[in-house]
Amino acid sequence: MTPQWITFSPRGDERGVLVAIESDHDIPFTLKRVYTLTGLLPGGVRGGHAHKRLRQVIVCLAGSCVIDLDDGEQTFSVPLDDPASGLVLEPMIWHEMREFSAGCVLMVLASDHYDEADYIRDRAAFMKCAKTASA
Ligand code: TYD
Repeated sequence: MTPQWITFSPRGDERGVLVAIESDHDIPFTLKRVYTLTGLLPGGVRGGHAHKRLRQVIVCLAGSCVIDLDDGEQTFSVPLDDPASGLVLEPMIWHEMREFSAGCVLMVLASDHYDEADYIRDRAAFMKCAKTASA
């Protein structure tokens, strides 16, 4: 797994920057849900789970943070700080977001509605599933 980025096409002029994200066109799935993370604390950690089937794209709309990615074999820590780029988060990637700057705003585009049954929140269970999948 290598972190995969989507670069959107910012339309900037003297009035500011507009970024349009269209379902199926600018992201590799049909968009069914958008959620945001705001009021994030500098020492806090979000995430700490993987999804079984859900596909997501994470965009940092303001400020910055770090996201740790782990597919059970490889780990990556990458900065999120560009409102014109989205990080693709495929299923079976354990992820944690941390080191939130003041005013950090994250927007997540998701391929399906919220379903708690799609989460793997237990780290040992995730490692077991990841090993089984790669065997
Ligand atoms: P969770 O996905 O665990 O947050 P994070 O990964 O950012 O730490 O979700 C936190 C809570 O919000 C949890 O009780 C589930 C709920 N939730 C929804 O109801 N709908 C949603 O779309 C999401 C993402 C979470």
